[in-house]
Amino acid sequence: MASSATIQRVNDTHRWWQRGVVYQVYPRSFQDRDGDGVGDLPGILDRLDYLEWLGVDAIWLSPIFPSPMADFGYDISDYTDVHPLFGSLADLDRLIASLHARGMKLMLDFVPNHTSDQHPWFLDSRSSRQSPKRDWYIWRDARADGSPPNGYVAAFGGSAWEWDARTRQFYFHTFLKEQPELEWANPAVRAAMSDVLRFWFRRGIDGFRIDVITLLGKHSAIQVAPDSVVIDPAVADDPVRASQARTAQVWGDEPGTHEVVAAIRAVADEFDDRVLVGEVYLPVERLVVYYGSAGEGIHLPFNFQLLELPWEPQPILEAIDRYEALLPPNAWPNWVLGNHDRSRVASRLGEAQARIAAVLLLTLRGTPTVYYGDELGMPDVPISRDQERDPFGLMEPGQSRDPERTPMRWDASPTAGFTAAEPWLPIGPRVAELNVEEERSDPHSVLHLYRQLLALRRQERALSVGDYRSLGAESSVMAYERTSGAERFLIVLNLGHEPARVPLAARGLSGRIEVSTRVDREGSAFDDDFVLGPDEGIVVRPAIRAGRTA
Ligand code: NOJ
Repeated sequence: MASSATIQRVNDTHRWWQRGVVYQVYPRSFQDRDGDGVGDLPGILDRLDYLEWLGVDAIWLSPIFPSPMADFGYDISDYTDVHPLFGSLADLDRLIASLHARGMKLMLDFVPNHTSDQHPWFLDSRSSRQSPKRDWYIWRDARADGSPPNGYVAAFGGSAWEWDARTRQFYFHTFLKEQPELEWANPAVRAAMSDVLRFWFRRGIDGFRIDVITLLGKHSAIQVAPDSVVIDPAVADDPVRASQARTAQVWGDEPGTHEVVAAIRAVADEFDDRVLVGEVYLPVERLVVYYGSAGEGIHLPFNFQLLELPWEPQPILEAIDRYEALLPPNAWPNWVLGNHDRSRVASRLGEAQARIAAVLLLTLRGTPTVYYGDELGMPDVPISRDQERDPFGLMEPGQSRDPERTPMRWDASPTAGFTAAEPWLPIGPRVAELNVEEERSDPHSVLHLYRQLLALRRQERALSVGDYRSLGAESSVMAYERTSGAERFLIVLNLGHEPARVPLAARGLSGRIEVSTRVDREGSAFDDDFVLGPDEGIVVRPAIRAGRTA
């Protein structure tokens, strides 16, 4: 069994989270072992052989903690336990041990911005204005006319302020009213949340993905006089202005945020070799600030650009160059193609281009995060209104995130090997072709492509930690190279559906095609006359010519 630990180079100074590839598991949807239609930790344990076979290095689990599930676990009522739906702390310990034995890592989801309204801290806080935990949350008086302190709107509509009739004040929530926001300016909150991190680090958790980290500084608007209206409630009726206002507000990024981030980083630094990844939906020049300048930021502020850029060579290459240029010294890049909040890559780009996206994700410089099921080419699953579960979809039609959260497909059976019961969300169409069992035996499958790319990336230093250089774009094709010393790889991607030539700057090289999105090309020769097929992406190992690398 080849674990990452055995392959790791002895002198490599790169950390595991730089060399490795992260795989996001949405626990409700990965594997149900106890037969209730919802995935669980024993289910994940059962599937570790698969993840090791696939070749990923770390797993990030979306929240598994006790929660009323108003936002499917992003509303936590106990930060230091496991929801019985998912199993027990003992199951989690087994998962940690089993992953570590395989040379793999486990990351959890840290949700510091808000708790559940059922968390004992909030129950205490709302019990009276004199509660010692009153100022753990953000409470404000109504304005003179009884309306909320300001016009802030919640992420999915309605006021961000919820009236508490008993104590006659409003509390603040960017997301659901069931997700009241913690006041991180309060040292007691910082201390309690730091202890949460320590609890898990001591248990062997290797890192955290941090939910909406950009919100922790709190909006300056909340701190000002209660009669100031920051966002006029009138915009709520104007969809464009309301959406702009929400975007600005929901992603926060108030200056005070960085001080809170530094406090969290300091806790992680009490332990060896842990990683902090943060959810940062911000323009790239503001995103890179989350790295900090001297080890006081997070290790990997998620880079979501590939979710938003037009799927065209020039803008993508420009975005890569800009991102690389803006990275602070020693900052390590990262790339994401999908997650539990965004339409799946196979649906956004179509099946053929989703393969190109896989090559891009796994050959760019920086840590890739793979969203479960994307390695199968799973599409968004249409969910009928009566089957919808996501509260945001229920509040605002068209906003549901259920389509990208449907169960993993393990085999061609009606419930895809995910559960023996009725799955919590439908499995969706085309399960007969898009499932692990089927794709494992098909060398043309997306799964095969992912596995090959992961193996090559792991084997080749140029691909895992090497330098990146753009070789430009021409028509529908983009090219770049990755190098480490004399080792070199050329990557050429056709983002179009017609055959196309290799861009000029990438010519003058000959070599062998190591990976192609078209299986019949693998192992064949590459030279200046090479014509890429429609939707073809290739990874080429250039031949070494006498005296120089070709
Ligand atoms: C971002 C998470 O990814 C999303 O799923 C959740 O609804 C919000 N944060 C609130 O926690």
